[in-house]
Parts: sequence; structure tokens; C-alpha cells
Amino acid sequence: MEKQLIIAIDGPSGSGKSTLAKLLSERLGHLYIDTGAMYRTAALGARRAGVDIDDVQVFAKFCSELDISFTIEEGKVKILLRGEDVSGEIRDPEMGILASAISAKPLLREKLVELQRRIGEKGGVVLEGRDIGTVVFPQADLKFYLDASLTERAQRRCNELRQNGKEIELKEVLEEIKERDLKDSTRDFAPLKKADEAVVIDSTNKGIQEVLEEMLGYIIDCKFEI
Ligand code: DC
Repeated sequence: MEKQLIIAIDGPSGSGKSTLAKLLSERLGHLYIDTGAMYRTAALGARRAGVDIDDVQVFAKFCSELDISFTIEEGKVKILLRGEDVSGEIRDPEMGILASAISAKPLLREKLVELQRRIGEKGGVVLEGRDIGTVVFPQADLKFYLDASLTERAQRRCNELRQNGKEIELKEVLEEIKERDLKDSTRDFAPLKKADEAVVIDSTNKGIQEVLEEMLGYIIDCKFEI
């Protein structure tokens, strides 16, 4: 019988988490959950509503009313804010910076972690983020920590943005990633951290397929049926 796994993939920006989580979920027939997209969507919601995230009462109201959900259209996972597809809009680099700031707020993290647990608790999921193996699912069947050199991660992000029609300089992306990594790994609540038992994969100078095979290898080694 096929086991319904919980697979956690954590790592810094541009480490290949999204691409590999997507591919892995397709191979395993599991659901793919991009938790970064949730924080980006919360940031978009806050910006649209002009919410001061440092005003405790205003922010508590914003969190209690926040309506984020997922849907699958033509095989692609879309993220919805109050029912509106915002999957494209949240990819703007500005949203990454705002997401990093808003994700440091424990109240928002509590709400989104609860949602992530509800979606993933029955298994059959590949989740990617910063705190999946450490906080969201410490009991995950398998944990990966993906990394790559700063230059390579910035170059990948830059190519991705350019492919989507954004005119951007590598230097700008590099600075943005550096700033975000520092914030994400030094915040008080659920910072980006490798879980003790996570398998570390450095994808610098490695192709996607090579990393995918390596990850599948660990899954087979663990004697999971795929
Ligand atoms: O993975 P990403 O670049 O789309 O994430 C955007 C921001 O969201 C990231 O800078 C930190 C935050 N984040 C988080 O705090 N916890 C997660 N599990 C996922 C993302």
C-alpha cells in the first residue's frame, strides 16, 4: 500500500525548494503546499488594506479576518485571497520583502501554521518553507534542507523574474535575498533553521534533475513505497 507521507522542505530563498517540492509532489502523487506563498498573500492583503502591522489591535483584527485558500486549476495550484487568485501578484520581489517582515509576527504565524497543519495532517503532502521540519511538522516522515551559494540563488531568482517579464539587475536581487535571509534566520519566532535530522542538499552547480533523483533516493532508502 502506498504510504501517505509528510515531506518537509526548508531552506533559504532561491535554494530550489519550490521547483523541487513541485516535482517531488508530482512524482509521489502528493499535494504541494507552498507556505511562502501564504506569507506573501498575507503581505499583499495587509498592503492592500493599508494595515499597520505594528499596531497590535489593527493587526489582530487583520489576522482574524484573513482569508487564504488554495485551489487547483488545470493541474496548477493557485493561491486565493478572499477567493481572488493572487498567484501572479505575490511573486513581485517587493512582496518577498513584505512577506519576510510580516512573517516575523507570531500572531500571523500561529494562524498560518494551523492552516498548514490542517491541510497536511493526513499526509500525502510536500510542504516547503522555512519552519516546516522544525515547527509545522516536526514529525514529518522526511525532512530536507536545501541550500546553494548566495550568487547561485540570486542568479536563479533573477532568471525566474526575467522569464516572467520583469526587468531586474542581478545586484538588486542579490541584495534583496541577502536582506531577507538575514531577517528570516535571525527572527525570534520560528527562524529559518535546519532541523536536526534533516537531509542537507547543497544544489550549487547541480541541475534540478540531479537534485530530484537525490531526494527520491532518500525516499526509497527510507523504504517508502513510491
Ligand atoms: O519562500 P518565499 O520566498 O516565497 O517566502 C517569502 C517569505 O515568507 C520569506 O522571506 C519568509 C516567509 N516564510 C516564513 O517565514 N515561513 C515559511 N514557512 C515560509 C516563508
